Amino acid sequence: METTIYYFTGTGNSLKIAKDLCENITNCRLIRICKRNMNINEVTSERIGFVFPVYYRGLPKMVANFIKNLDVNLGKYFFAVANFGSYAALTFEQIDILLRSKGKSLSANFSVEMPGNMWFMYYPHPKEDFINRMNNQSRITINIARMINNNYENNIPVIKNRYKEEKMYEDFNPNNIDENFWVSEKCIGCGICSNVCPAENIEIIEAKPSWEHRCEQCLACIHLCPQTAIEFKKDSINKERYKNIFVKTKDLF
Ligand SMILES: Cc1cc2nc3c(=O)[nH]c(=O)nc-3n(C[C@H](O)[C@H](O)[C@H](O)COP(=O)(O)O)c2cc1C
Repeated sequence: METTIYYFTGTGNSLKIAKDLCENITNCRLIRICKRNMNINEVTSERIGFVFPVYYRGLPKMVANFIKNLDVNLGKYFFAVANFGSYAALTFEQIDILLRSKGKSLSANFSVEMPGNMWFMYYPHPKEDFINRMNNQSRITINIARMINNNYENNIPVIKNRYKEEKMYEDFNPNNIDENFWVSEKCIGCGICSNVCPAENIEIIEAKPSWEHRCEQCLACIHLCPQTAIEFKKDSINKERYKNIFVKTKDLF
């Protein structure tokens, strides 16, 4: 059985998980969910996976739109692997609803705890947890791959505090959030922010980034700037940046 994994990533956690899965699933290929690939709308594999970070308790908007557009007629087994700072919240149910509207359903869901990358707005857990989560991720992912190879099925977990979680996701409107990004004099106009943006939302104008209000809020630009020149309001000043240590910046281009 051929497997295709569609993944969305900002700072590399989802890419690392998707790569580990693919290496341990027989006959597997990886496709990034990003602006350039939004017109891939036909599934050719029988086994289909989605790997993504949780945003505001739900799916990144680009992931939801990608699945909405996908023709899944040939798919027989669908799995979702969420990664997050706290939990998968609404994401599995959201994917299941999208698949059901096409006559399919989510066969299996899996969760991987990762370092939260929104820490300049809130700091979700102690730093030692970052290290533990990094160290545990491969082992957990290889175990998930084994279950996928066996077409393991499970039920979607019950969502606690549904009202609160749905309210939070309703407030997630990322497109114009980029009005809060600004660039300091440390910027050398290298263009890495533009290259890593999955939404192709950053143009380099007169050697400085300019955000075009199609932001997905993945935070790749701010975290991956090698000069730490990009800031979010005043919240990020003098705060450490985050990138998955097992992923190279150019793997995110
Ligand atoms: C805009 C945004 C919203 C987030 N919201 C949540 C959330 O609601 N719950 C959670 O557990 N983690 C949340 N996170 C943390 C990410 O899901 C987590 O760090 C993930 O591993 C990042 O994956 P990536 O490196 O592939 O981008 C959020 C991160 C961002 C950037």
